[in-house]
Amino acid sequence: MVELLHCARPRGETEFRTVLGNFASGLTIITAMTGEGPVGFTCQSFTSLSLDPPLVLFCPSKTSTTWPRIRIVGRFCVNVLATDHESLSSQFSRSGTDKFEGVEFDRSPNGSPLLPGAVAWIDCVLQVEHEGGDHAIAVAAVEDLAADPDSSPLLFHRGRYAKVS
Ligand SMILES: Cc1cc2nc3c(=O)[nH]c(=O)nc-3n(C[C@H](O)[C@H](O)[C@H](O)COP(=O)(O)O)c2cc1C
Repeated sequence: MVELLHCARPRGETEFRTVLGNFASGLTIITAMTGEGPVGFTCQSFTSLSLDPPLVLFCPSKTSTTWPRIRIVGRFCVNVLATDHESLSSQFSRSGTDKFEGVEFDRSPNGSPLLPGAVAWIDCVLQVEHEGGDHAIAVAAVEDLAADPDSSPLLFHRGRYAKVS
């Protein structure tokens, strides 16, 4: 029998992260164009929410310095990362740096930065934000979207980047 890592109640942050890290996901970079230039941050907590109306959600940390700037703009693009986007993901997770340094980008229909090679992109308008502990839950309406059927997504699993095999 396979031995499972068992904990009845999470005793701390490490245990919580270890167990929840078994839930594999894709990765996104959420971008917007502000008056001071392009902004963005790496975001794992993205998911689809509703088909009719078309809604998505993601959970920005309350410590994020980028999310408040995106919130003011109110519209943004969710760039779904491809297998060769590992270093881009790391670059867009470093607070207080110029995340777009050396990054060329196009513009999505709503004017947000579109990262080259993205598996898919989803243009959104922020609809509502809910409380979520040390994160918020941002619900957004989908305005436009597209996908590249020939590319593979970058995954995040047990604290590491992974690929679809
Ligand atoms: C793999 C990975 C997944 C992440 N997922 C999230 C997330 O779901 N929500 C979030 O707020 N931050 C997430 N982050 C952290 C943000 O990218 C990071 O805190 C942010 O870019 C900090 O910069 P800022 O101060 O410019 O917002 C993730 C980072 C990595 C490396």
